[in-house]
Amino acid sequence: MTRPVNDTLLRALMREPTDYTPLWLMRQAGRYLPEYRASRATAGSFMDLCRNAAFATEVTLQPLDRFPLDAAILFSDILTVPDAMGLGLSFAEGEGPRFARPLRDEAAIRALEAAPMEKLDYVFNAVSSIRRALDNRVPLIGFSGSPFTLACYMIEGRGSDDFRHIKGLMYSRPDLLHHILDVNARSVTAYLNQQIEHGAQAVMVFDTWGGVLSGTAYREFSLAYMRRIVAGLKREHEGQRVPVVLFTKGGGQWLVDMADTGCDALGLDWTVDPAQARALVGSRVSLQGNMDPGSLMGSAEGVATEAQRVLEAFGPAPGHVFNLGHGISQHTPPENVATLVEVVHRHSRKLREAAGA
Ligand code: CP3
Repeated sequence: MTRPVNDTLLRALMREPTDYTPLWLMRQAGRYLPEYRASRATAGSFMDLCRNAAFATEVTLQPLDRFPLDAAILFSDILTVPDAMGLGLSFAEGEGPRFARPLRDEAAIRALEAAPMEKLDYVFNAVSSIRRALDNRVPLIGFSGSPFTLACYMIEGRGSDDFRHIKGLMYSRPDLLHHILDVNARSVTAYLNQQIEHGAQAVMVFDTWGGVLSGTAYREFSLAYMRRIVAGLKREHEGQRVPVVLFTKGGGQWLVDMADTGCDALGLDWTVDPAQARALVGSRVSLQGNMDPGSLMGSAEGVATEAQRVLEAFGPAPGHVFNLGHGISQHTPPENVATLVEVVHRHSRKLREAAGA
């Protein structure tokens, strides 16, 4: 298969030298862009955007048409997988996700089965359609939620600030939680492999809530299942390596264990010190991150200063993909993103030249 004309992201994820630091932004297609809000109004709702390949393609490309980003990310959501298991996903306007049938009793948990991939055809069609529209400009990133993070929404039925239902289950019936996580891990592995078959050129696993666990619980209930996914993924497609990125928000203290899964790169949130992270993992993995999304709420000068600080903290050695430490806020002024992209490209070239790289 043809490599993208701009393959800087794929090279950086494999720790190969690049002329500059590539960047993309978590949630780069979203509500901070007026053209996204217009598309969503035309489509009807967020899930209508996801379920229609033409709309999903349109909104995936919107941030790339505005800014010279180095990657596209599939427009979809992590909660498509439990929805395909029959839990009944909805997004009410101005609220977060809701499941109509959360997993709250043993019978429901025992009845849970791996997501039938046919029910996710709309996602795979979107992947194919986005690849055609990208025409090899930049690589396309596929993604899924981690088994644990999916389980949080499946059991709580919505977002949570105390995770009392899933923790209640974890500390009373760990066998039942393990059953859910096993089903999720098998579903996510099949789901990501299908995305790869349809043209995703790198994949990322979002473990947004692993950081709410103790170290012991993290290893048993989140990391163990991500390790199984990494082991089950197609790492090469049509002669090209498909890099795998793991991201546990709040997981800075477990980076060595995460690198041990055999993934290619780790996402870092903004609480992690890049030099310390590099010292911990050595040259085994690439690192992706980790500017505070809140720093995009300030002035253009503030954005430039912070972007340069982050680049200098990672240093000019190969193996850094610039990103935010979590998703971009819907309140971000788009012009600050333009500044960010320009500064990251320009300053990272300068740092490499100065280092003689
Ligand atoms: O990065 C991208 O541009 C790709 C698209 C993407 C979305 N969700 C679109 C989206 C990705 C990678 C996700 C992942 C996702 N979804 C995660 C993991 C990453 C993270 O942010 O921690 C999680 C936890 C979810 C679940 C989810 N989806 C929540 C909690 C919400 C509501 C909160 C919010 O920001 O609205 C969503 C909705 C969602 N997913 C939106 C988008 C663009 C906003 C929907 C809208 O337009 O109203």
